[in-house]
Amino acid sequence: MTRRLSVTVRAPAKINLHLGVGAPRADGFHPLTTVYQAISLYDDLRATAGQGWAVDTRVADYIDATVLPAPGHNIVDRAAALLAVHGDCAVSGAVRVDKTIPVAGGMAGGSADAAAALVSLDRIWGLGTTDTELLRIAAQLGSDVPFALVGGTALGSGRGEKVASVIDQGTWWWVVVPAADGLSTPEVYRHFDRMFPDASPEPAPAGDLLLALATRDPRRLAAALHNDLQLPALDLRPDLARVISRGEAAGALRGIVSGSGPTCVFLCESGEHARAVAADVATAHDVVLVAHGPVAGAHLMEPG
Ligand code: C5P
Repeated sequence: MTRRLSVTVRAPAKINLHLGVGAPRADGFHPLTTVYQAISLYDDLRATAGQGWAVDTRVADYIDATVLPAPGHNIVDRAAALLAVHGDCAVSGAVRVDKTIPVAGGMAGGSADAAAALVSLDRIWGLGTTDTELLRIAAQLGSDVPFALVGGTALGSGRGEKVASVIDQGTWWWVVVPAADGLSTPEVYRHFDRMFPDASPEPAPAGDLLLALATRDPRRLAAALHNDLQLPALDLRPDLARVISRGEAAGALRGIVSGSGPTCVFLCESGEHARAVAADVATAHDVVLVAHGPVAGAHLMEPG
């Protein structure tokens, strides 16, 4: 593999088409059966070889930069440190992250950045780390990070870190409505525990969702969407119920909270339908995005 001086890696946001959550394990994490889909909202990370280490993060105008972690405590710093240990090399380079994935939104934006950091730094440090090793390091960084590497549509198990791609020949269109204030993922899981103290250790299976995906029929998929974190997220943030009603009143097939929220996503019939729903919802919400999935996981952009 060729070592490059500068590379740009693009990594996608995820939504959970199915998110079955079981009672917490001994380590505090919740067992999941989830179906992830990577959608066409991206963070781009440009890494340039050089002495020293610096991470500069820029955000789209609809993202509140004040909620980003302090420099040095970013998941990109942690990804660099873990990869350097694995590669037995020093952390070095200049990294610039351009974010369009909502922060603390339930769309795994931080996980996308971690995956992009692993792929880009592996290249500029000339390590040639195998996919298996990258996935292992990714799992140490966060439950959603392996999926950000794999992309497409995938079945997630364990705490979400074990991913297996599934065949998905559809192109699914989504309207995405981020919220001004983020939600903390651990807080939503804790609220799930309070609301469902008798939850089964076995998360709800994803069979119906996988069957619906195979039909390539958006109405079937809409009916099969499932998120066990939706009730806790709505209980913490009752305003989200109005967001979902608004999108469904605008003609979306179905709206759900994305992951632990607060971003809400709306499945539509087609790109044209999604743009019409988005235009309608935009009369009530400042930020309304249109995206499609599945798209590729973290990948190099050419030319570097
Ligand atoms: O793995 P990740 O760092 O993304 O997880 C963030 C937090 O979300 C965990 O510390 C935990 O509180 C919660 N979580 C969980 N069960 C999961 C995934 C995340 O309880 N399967």
